[in-house]
Amino acid sequence: MGKLDGRVAIVTGGGRGIGKSIAIALAAEGAKVAVNYNTSSARAEQVVSEINAAWRDRTHNVGGADTAEERAVAVKADVSKPDEARQLIRSVHERWGRLDVLVNNAGITRDKSIRKMTDEDWLEVIQTNLNAVFFCTTAAMQPMIEQKYGRIINISSMNGQTSAFGQANYGASKGGIIAFSKTVALELAKFNVTVNVIAPGFTLTDMLAKVPETVQDQIKSKIPLGRFGMPEEIAKAVIFLAADADYITGAQINVNGGAYM
Ligand SMILES: NC(=O)c1ccc[n+]([C@@H]2O[C@H](COP(=O)([O-])OP(=O)(O)OC[C@H]3O[C@@H](n4cnc5c(N)ncnc54)[C@H](OP(=O)(O)O)[C@@H]3O)[C@@H](O)[C@H]2O)c1
Repeated sequence: MGKLDGRVAIVTGGGRGIGKSIAIALAAEGAKVAVNYNTSSARAEQVVSEINAAWRDRTHNVGGADTAEERAVAVKADVSKPDEARQLIRSVHERWGRLDVLVNNAGITRDKSIRKMTDEDWLEVIQTNLNAVFFCTTAAMQPMIEQKYGRIINISSMNGQTSAFGQANYGASKGGIIAFSKTVALELAKFNVTVNVIAPGFTLTDMLAKVPETVQDQIKSKIPLGRFGMPEEIAKAVIFLAADADYITGAQINVNGGAYM
């Protein structure tokens, strides 16, 4: 028995990094998971294979359940495009007949000091990190309202809570997610749809790998727990919000090793 048996989840940007760990963790708790990707087709398919193989192992061991059942699917959509974002949500709802958990995880960085930041750097980050959360949330809330059940989990960042050099665009997008989530939490509470934020600190993925090693060392030296976070540690907070947090909405969970308190 998983905590999310019978639930259907979508993870945007689920093919790699934090999104991959979230997709695998949701599936391990019994949810059917749509693994959204934009460019990482092969990696998303790999995540899907891993989830379906784990399911077959589990059901084989307990002997009996439908081992041919599809537990995960990879769905291509550039969530920064409203039509593609909405089609992603619609297609998953049509495929599995419900939608319980939306994890808005997809995100990008285009770091530059404000003196060098172009309109393109600004617009691309806001469109992908913030506007996409609006597109996916507004599409997903319709079936959730009808079901009188939904868990929307938005992946912000510690750098949406505090300053970070070179991240005016990213910080604005991630701070925007926090403000957006509180209002939507207020408006959807009466439908038993909760909206919460996870604010990761520095987490070991491709995104952090882009930061020069000397800067990484400086950052690490300031983290009270003395190390970077692992994607699986962000996923644990997602499982808590998706499965065990019925009376929590409009909240933020910091998963940052104490780097911002
Ligand atoms: N790593 C950190 O230190 C850290 C800290 C705080 C917050 N976060 C946040 O955590 C989330 C995941 O970050 P990560 O570290 O796992 O990043 P990552 O390894 O760079 O992966 C980014 C993910 O976002 C997806 N994505 C980007 N643009 C997309 C689009 N237009 N449509 C659909 N998917 C898109 C990518 O999909 P494709 O590969 O398919 O294009 C990929 O799966 C982001 O929101 C990030 O801001 C990360």
